[in-house]
Amino acid sequence: MKYQLISLVSHGDERGSLISFEAGINCPFDVKRCFYIYDTKGGNVIRGAHANRRSKFLLVVINGSCRVKIDTGTKIDDVLLNNPMTALYLDKMVWKEMYEFSHNAVLMVLSNELYDETEYIRNYEEYKKEISGNR
Ligand code: TYD
Repeated sequence: MKYQLISLVSHGDERGSLISFEAGINCPFDVKRCFYIYDTKGGNVIRGAHANRRSKFLLVVINGSCRVKIDTGTKIDDVLLNNPMTALYLDKMVWKEMYEFSHNAVLMVLSNELYDETEYIRNYEEYKKEISGNR
């Protein structure tokens, strides 16, 4: 599965709500890195626009909304993330672009790898070349 929406279970009571991620249960990898994108500037901002040779990701919009364009090399899809109860899993070697951030959006991302710029493919033609070589 190159990408997948994962429904999360929220533990709510009269005090509020809580969602957890556990490796092998609702997160398909052991987490080594977490980062979040927030305070995005304006409606036309595009984040991502890269693929990763090793990193897998789990994306959750914990506040607000954004869209994610997903390109697996053979299929292009587009999903709206607008609630904290749905995570988007992206396998390695998936081209992704996050856009249409709402003004209050907070996009949290979990990954199986530490940050390493050398495993990022930021050129789409290079991505197409590598993904077709991998098949
Ligand atoms: P970038 O990869 O451009 O973010 P996006 O995926 O939203 O396009 O990263 C922005 C900056 O943050 C860049 O200088 C690299 C740095 N960065 C880290 O230091 N660690 C990380 O885990 C990530 C994702 C980025």
